[in-house]
Amino acid sequence: MTTRARQIQLDVDDIPPCWYNILPDLPEPLPPPRDPETGPSRVEQLPNLLIKECLKQEMSGERWIAIPDGLRELYVQAGRPRPLFRALSLERALKTPARLYYKAEFYSPTGSHKVNTALAQAYYAREEGYERLTTETGAGQWGSALAYAAALTGLKCTVYWVRAVYRWKQARLGFMQMLGADVYASPSERTEIGRSLLKQDPDHDGSLGIAISEGLEDARSDPKAVYSLGSVLNHVLMHQTIIGLETQKQFEKAGDYPDVMISCLGGGSNFGGFVLPFVGDVLKKGKTIRFIAAQSQAAPNLQGEYRYDHADHAGITPLLKMYTLGHTAHMAPIKGDGLRYHGCSPLLSLLRHLGYIDTVAYPADERHVFEQALLFMRTEGFLPAPESAYSVCCAIEEALKCREAGEEKVIAFNVSGHGFMDIEGYREVLALAAERPRAQSHSPLLGI
Ligand SMILES: Cc1ncc(COP(=O)(O)O)c(C=O)c1O
Repeated sequence: MTTRARQIQLDVDDIPPCWYNILPDLPEPLPPPRDPETGPSRVEQLPNLLIKECLKQEMSGERWIAIPDGLRELYVQAGRPRPLFRALSLERALKTPARLYYKAEFYSPTGSHKVNTALAQAYYAREEGYERLTTETGAGQWGSALAYAAALTGLKCTVYWVRAVYRWKQARLGFMQMLGADVYASPSERTEIGRSLLKQDPDHDGSLGIAISEGLEDARSDPKAVYSLGSVLNHVLMHQTIIGLETQKQFEKAGDYPDVMISCLGGGSNFGGFVLPFVGDVLKKGKTIRFIAAQSQAAPNLQGEYRYDHADHAGITPLLKMYTLGHTAHMAPIKGDGLRYHGCSPLLSLLRHLGYIDTVAYPADERHVFEQALLFMRTEGFLPAPESAYSVCCAIEEALKCREAGEEKVIAFNVSGHGFMDIEGYREVLALAAERPRAQSHSPLLGI
């Protein structure tokens, strides 16, 4: 095997000039956002809540939307394009005939794919004259990405961070603060919804749905601020298609093509960004690919009901048609907390409803998932984010199925982020001792 086969790289000039908007290629129209039967219209409020260019993109029927030059430059500054790796060492350890490829979104200045839409949203917000961005964050990756994008575009940034995660990720908190963001544990005393929930439980764990409500409420009360969402919506997934578009070019260069594509799914942004250009190939070019979303049994939203529901806890957003567990559902915190969200993006929900997307949900104790992340770390050498560990785990299981069946499938998976600031979570779940005796340092995991 040559070194060229292990890493498939692109030039800066290969950064796609446009994002891919799948809306005009869908087999049937996406059900539009709707108002609930009672209360003021949420749909009419959308132009006051979202960045105008993003709202325009949300509804656009254009297949290709140009990435502005200034934004492409920010993508270059953030290190795009990102490599696609052939996981030769992992393949050997698994003794699988499958060919495994992974996209390295963890090579990101803030640690994840989230910068792809953070930079776009901050860029447009500045163009539209806003001075501050408000947002939610679960894992802390989206909050970090938006804090970074705000710093680079000269905006202020306020982050409402799910309390269950805020408690243990001190390094991420410092990171966001160093980028200049104001970060609050959510629910917080700063909003009506936060105060009402803290009254019921002063140490409330919080949820992404609650943090979204707080971000929205904050932006609504300040005309210089605008709310920025890190997942779920069409335009967010479209910004993330830069991942899949690069991956398409890389597969072309490698002379290969995926049979199976896998990624973790919370609200759907990295999964959507990775697979949607390939879903386009399935819809328009007659390709056959199996798409698998890796989730947690703590929040298996794709196994919920397909119906209209709010995207936030307080019901500030319109109703979106999506697979949902219910917008006020209680879901126990996990270390991969970026996956703990009640609903899946309407776009991916429709594709799942039409039979294009499979899903798997792993046990909420996360031990099995994190053990597979360790195997990946000890073979390929990269530590995935806890959320990305679900993607890795699913890819390993599919590769083992290929070993059983003697099938040479091509499996592509996205590693959406790195876990350098999540090591406490890994140590807790894997019960790693403070000091490991020498004899145990040889991993039993590699004996697969
Ligand atoms: C590294 C990483 N991957 C994946 C996710 C899940 O979000 P999404 O489904 O929008 O990609 C998160 C969410 O915080 C994350 O931090």
